[in-house]
Amino acid sequence: MPDFRTLQLDNGDDILLGHNDFWLKSLDERDDAFAKLRHENAHGAGMCFHEELSVIEGGIAGPGFWSAVNYDDIRQINRTPHAFSSAAGITLGEQPPETLEFFGSMIVLDDPRHAKMRMLVQKGFTPKTVATIEESVRTRARDLVAQAREMGECDFVEQFAAPLPLGVICDMLGVPPEDEQQIFDWTNLILGAGDPDFTMDLHELILGAAGMFDYAQALGEDRLKHPTDDIASILMHAEVDGERLTAAEFGSFFILLAVAGNETTRNAISWGMHQLHHHPDQKRQLIENYTEMSMPAAEEIVRWASPVLHMRRTANFDVQVGNTKISEGEKVVMWYWSGNRDENVFTNGHRFDINRTNSKEQEGYGAGGPHFCLGANQARREIQVLFDEIFTQIPDIAITGEPDRLVSGFINGIKRMPCTTR
Ligand code: HEM
Repeated sequence: MPDFRTLQLDNGDDILLGHNDFWLKSLDERDDAFAKLRHENAHGAGMCFHEELSVIEGGIAGPGFWSAVNYDDIRQINRTPHAFSSAAGITLGEQPPETLEFFGSMIVLDDPRHAKMRMLVQKGFTPKTVATIEESVRTRARDLVAQAREMGECDFVEQFAAPLPLGVICDMLGVPPEDEQQIFDWTNLILGAGDPDFTMDLHELILGAAGMFDYAQALGEDRLKHPTDDIASILMHAEVDGERLTAAEFGSFFILLAVAGNETTRNAISWGMHQLHHHPDQKRQLIENYTEMSMPAAEEIVRWASPVLHMRRTANFDVQVGNTKISEGEKVVMWYWSGNRDENVFTNGHRFDINRTNSKEQEGYGAGGPHFCLGANQARREIQVLFDEIFTQIPDIAITGEPDRLVSGFINGIKRMPCTTR
């Protein structure tokens, strides 16, 4: 394995992307750190090889990873899947073997198996299915905002950002309302592992994932016998080349969808509100021109927030990216948060600006490879519809405290953020 190479911030702190401490730093420090890494790489030094610690007790400390931080490098890695495999895991840490079954869905498959699975599940994301969801997004958003108006003050994440994507994904998957809180707790535990508010313990993570997996398998088996019009029924009955999803495959896909459709959109919405509050001129402009501005604003929100901070690949053979030689079996982490701030593509990239003309070039949903986010259109609609309802009913909504950030190098999360709603 290559030697570790560590750059320093101006205050002398090491830039250690594989340590949880790094993710406690302020966003401005994080921006400085990635700007340094990008600068070094763009000027010929290549990528840094970073040390990696387990973020959770009982987890495995891996051998380290290359950090891809420049926009073009990330695109190259994403778009050459024959060289960069997803099969050994898509987060920078080592995946404990006990969790493989639960997190073994298509996001950790390579083609041809991945393409087959994607074709199968795409049936659940046709324009017709998304159109049926549109109505539930609008109704849910309107109700949440109306409730908040009565409250006067509340937690933005709890009242708006978390329940909307959760409710929508539960509707899609055919989860009854009484089970939504349980799904919410499981997804928090899975993506919050490593944050003391959720869990620091591998055993607890495994129990949560196993609970969700069993729940999903039971749901899938039920829909096989008693189909309805939800995605669970579509998926359990769809066939590609005469093959159907097994209940176990459905179980891990359910976990992927519930986690991917829930935590990501939640954090885009929370950071979007945070940034619009701190840029009142842009908030006003958006409210006054909602029809034309809501789509570019939704892209800029995802670019700036980069709710998924990274995805990881593993080299199938020796391969060169820019000035960096990566050997077979080495891990490469694509820092989408950094690609989305690359000064060669986004001028003053750490600045939130809904008037950028190229926000849609962002890498927040992936950089165009075979795993490009399947739910991107749905996420865009959820963001647009929720802000439409918020700004129509409570245009004076104000954030009244600092966001309480999730401790994570994977999800750029906000756990809590107070607001007033009158
Ligand atoms: C703002 C919200 C969202 C963001 C930022 C986001 C981001 C991402 C990213 C970065 C990937 C991996 C792309 C790659 O490495 O090439 C991904 C994959 C995926 N996302 Fe999303 N996502 C969001 C919302 C959603 C929603 C709402 C759903 C489902 C309803 C969803 C379902 C998926 C699935 C199924 C995959 C795996 C696709 C595959 O492996 O082929 N995502 N997403």
